[in-house]
Amino acid sequence: MNSNPLSTRLAGLELKNPTVLASGILGYSTESLQRIAEAGAGAIVTKSVGLTPRMGYPNPTVVQANGGLINAMGLPNPGIVEYASEISFTKTVITVPLIVSIYGYSAEEYAEVAKTATEAGADAVELNVSCPHVKKTGSEIGQNPMLLKQVIRQVKAATSKPVIIKLSPNITDIVELAQAATKSGADALTAVNTVRAIAIDTETALPILSNTRGGLSGPAIKPIALCAVYDIYEKVKTPIIGCGGIATWQDAVEFLLAGASAVQIGTAIALRDPMVFQAINHGIQTYLKKKKHRSVQEIVGQAHRN
Ligand SMILES: Cc1cc2nc3c(=O)[nH]c(=O)nc-3n(C[C@H](O)[C@H](O)[C@H](O)COP(=O)(O)O)c2cc1C
Repeated sequence: MNSNPLSTRLAGLELKNPTVLASGILGYSTESLQRIAEAGAGAIVTKSVGLTPRMGYPNPTVVQANGGLINAMGLPNPGIVEYASEISFTKTVITVPLIVSIYGYSAEEYAEVAKTATEAGADAVELNVSCPHVKKTGSEIGQNPMLLKQVIRQVKAATSKPVIIKLSPNITDIVELAQAATKSGADALTAVNTVRAIAIDTETALPILSNTRGGLSGPAIKPIALCAVYDIYEKVKTPIIGCGGIATWQDAVEFLLAGASAVQIGTAIALRDPMVFQAINHGIQTYLKKKKHRSVQEIVGQAHRN
């Protein structure tokens, strides 16, 4: 029997616990990713990186909302060629799996970024096909099952590492996309990215974000994300990583019971602090003991029993 009840396997990755840093919250630098690994995360996802450098949008790019944040950063990133050496360096420093989040403007671009990230040492890639605020990438790809299939197939051909698909909640039927991703060979699904949102300044009578619209994250979206996980688990066998508004161990356990094999945590780090990983892991472990479960795996999807 495995002596660590928190350990879990996800798309071929061994995780010492089911908590994962969500993409974009702490950027790319080895120092910040290392800080999160030391705070107890079982795996790390980098901010999304593309083929060429991108400036992102001018400020304001983030605004606080009731129960969360609305952001439209515009995918600022140094480009994969520049970032590859940082990936290699990060791999020498952190001991938990490093998942590189990638985006592109075509299937070929996604594949090329995935290949370079893999050669640099990524343990897996997460395809951002769900960013709600940059044109011709992100959710414009993830909302179209045909395009999504093409992207996944090309990426699968370009890397031997697990390919995780991050789904958008801004669609009518997330299960349809989850099924399309599964058919194309997705190794895991992350559900979900941010929910399309806007904030307006009553003084200027204008939208606050420079990009006008953004994506809502944090506790306000938790029930939406949880429902997405529940719906996908009912119809799809691919492992799911729950993401959206997870801030406490109770939130994390709800996602596991709904069918997630692991959970990503983002906004809670900004609204609380990185020690949220330790607190959530401690809470999950205490819950498992109290309910007499030997492992996290035992409770995955338990809310679906009749
Ligand atoms: C400031 C900020 C930047 C983000 N950047 C990215 C990104 O680069 N790529 C991505 O896939 N998701 C990005 N996200 C979305 C998060 O990874 C996550 O899916 C979302 O925030 C919901 O989780 P949370 O409520 O725990 O934050 C970003 C979120 C925030 C708040």
